[in-house]
Amino acid sequence: MSPARIVTVVGNPRPASRTHGLARALAVELAHVLPDATTGEVDLAALGPRVLDQADAGASAAVGQVLAADVLVVASPTYKATYSGLLKAFLDRLGTGSLAGKTAVPVLLGGAPNHQLAVDLHFAPLLLELGAAVPVRGLFVLESGVEDFASFAAEWAAANGLALARG
Ligand SMILES: Cc1cc2nc3c(=O)[nH]c(=O)nc-3n(C[C@H](O)[C@H](O)[C@H](O)COP(=O)(O)O)c2cc1C
Repeated sequence: MSPARIVTVVGNPRPASRTHGLARALAVELAHVLPDATTGEVDLAALGPRVLDQADAGASAAVGQVLAADVLVVASPTYKATYSGLLKAFLDRLGTGSLAGKTAVPVLLGGAPNHQLAVDLHFAPLLLELGAAVPVRGLFVLESGVEDFASFAAEWAAANGLALARG
């Protein structure tokens, strides 16, 4: 198995968010189970409205980081039963099918248990439209589960890491 480049994309408009912490924890655990993996991060809070500026060098560099990934951890707070508008605006910079050959796992953090299917019903199809393979179910993390997420992430990565690496 060749070394995997794992890149997180964090779609919370607020910096240093819990969503950011979840994405980072998951990437760290995946890096533990995938041989010689490296990690990188695109924190959209740092770009903010610049995601809408086609001429913005930082936003273009962030797209470059995504395109250089093998495995994408794409995380967002649940907003209006889907993902954040910031994340969508960023992903709209990518061409349809441009994530071909990569795998992705969508991660939503939310407060409403009745929105947990949003990750597979709304978020995964967005990543599929972009061409990524989504080989395992997405993660919906309730706010009440944030504290225990690190240990959950370790188990989850052990169970699903290889499927993500193989695509
Ligand atoms: C504009 C907005 C819309 C939200 N809509 C939902 C929602 O539809 N379903 C849900 O479970 N939580 C919703 N929430 C709660 C957020 O998902 C939750 O507070 C967030 O995931 C916390 O993540 P953070 O700590 O990283 O900001 C909403 C929060 C905001 C600010």
